[in-house]
Amino acid sequence: MFEFAPGGSQLKPELYAELRSAAEAVTDGEPDGIANMANVAALLWQFVPELNWAGFYRMVGGELVLGPFIGKPACIRIAIGQGVCGAAAANGETQLVADVHAFPGHIACDAASASELVVPVVRDGKVIAVIDLDSPRPARFDREDAAGIEALARLIAPRI
Ligand code: SME
Repeated sequence: MFEFAPGGSQLKPELYAELRSAAEAVTDGEPDGIANMANVAALLWQFVPELNWAGFYRMVGGELVLGPFIGKPACIRIAIGQGVCGAAAANGETQLVADVHAFPGHIACDAASASELVVPVVRDGKVIAVIDLDSPRPARFDREDAAGIEALARLIAPRI
């Protein structure tokens, strides 16, 4: 039904612009947040190279609860402040972790994960979810990846 294909750009700003435009199109006019997160998780997996996990944790009842994702089954509930996702939810700031094994309290859902990027999704000043990307390559993510996912988070905040 939807045919989105990464244009093959090696430039991260272009890759993330393409990803955002696909996410914009696939969530346009759809009020169901879970459906939108599911399609955005699929787009992250399709567009962003070198991932072993991509998806969402949602803020539910004061903790993070697993949302739509691609990858191995993951831990279901994460307390605020716990692990990389919990840190992003606690302070509302992107977590760019080059070596997950060096991150205090990192939660290992998939032993293959070596580096991680977690970006909070903020609506009306509150963290409503986080986008979590894991890579088997150490230091896979940089500030350009963070900026691309932060822009995606702003786009989808009203749609999830
Ligand atoms: N590593 C995360 C847990 C979620 S999994 O990576 C899917 C963390 O420390 O919060």
